[in-house]
Amino acid sequence: MERRSLVTVVTVVLGVGIMVAAWTLSRYGAYRSWFGGDAERGRALYAFHCAACHGPEGQGRVRGNATQLSNPDFLALASDEFLRVTIARGRRGTEMRGWARDAGGSLNRADIEDLVAFLRTWQRNVPIPPMPLLGRGDPTRGRKLYEAACANCHGWVGRGELGMGPAVTNPDLLAAADDAFLWATIAYGRRDTPMFPSLHGLSGVRQFNEQEINDVVAYLRSWQNKQ
Ligand code: HEC
Ligand code: HEC
Repeated sequence: MERRSLVTVVTVVLGVGIMVAAWTLSRYGAYRSWFGGDAERGRALYAFHCAACHGPEGQGRVRGNATQLSNPDFLALASDEFLRVTIARGRRGTEMRGWARDAGGSLNRADIEDLVAFLRTWQRNVPIPPMPLLGRGDPTRGRKLYEAACANCHGWVGRGELGMGPAVTNPDLLAAADDAFLWATIAYGRRDTPMFPSLHGLSGVRQFNEQEINDVVAYLRSWQNKQ
């Protein structure tokens, strides 16, 4: 008898402990980074916090330079970590503020995981285009190419041009994006946006070779620790 009630007490205590631990984990989003966020919850958060600028369908440019988040070329290249960090920290000096609590925003980790899961529902099965070996670029040559081909939309030193193109020398973008993201975005563009492809042979106005795109990436990178 004695033993049996002890077992009952231990079982109840363990059960309650597990429930509290699960609740705590889910509240802080730990669960979600293991098992993926809740896209339905993310949809509601998106409608409330993000749609005013990025558009209800993620079509972009409803306000200012907010980019097209439903763009399949963008989603194919952007990692979950890129999306998480961008939402959490924002892009300083632009309208994209940081949304995490420790960046002065109102969202917790679970909210951000749910938003990432929702953005992924827009992803289509677009193969990541070939990326030839990314060699070292020459930032001085890249700067000339940039000023001739990109500055009219992205601004003379890449801080963005309202209604034309987002900031591309922004330190938060450069910290979140790897060279492959930049290279492929420049080479292949983003369909149905003014960001046309730049690689020779494609339908864009620019006809850069692969090395020239390396040079432009090196030029953008040269801003990474300057602003
Ligand atoms: C006609 C205007 C225009 C030109 C010229 C142009 N871009 Fe863009 N670019 C855009 C727009 C608009 C976007 C955002 C597209 C979207 O909504 O997703 C963009 C997006 C980008 C991005 C992604 C930024 C991010 O926040 O993820 C990079 C990098 C970029 N452009 C680099 C370049 C470079 C380098 C050149 C020159 C070779 C160039 N662009 C030329 C308009 C332009
Ligand atoms: C006040 C307008 C505004 C709101 C609200 C806003 N954004 Fe943005 N967002 C922007 C702008 C503008 C940019 C591009 C910044 C630049 O110029 O580089 C951006 C960029 C981004 C990017 C990077 C996309 C890329 O092409 O690299 C992501 C991801 C993003 N926002 C997600 C969100 C999410 C999720 C929310 C809601 C929690 C949100 N944004 C709310 C204006 C906004």
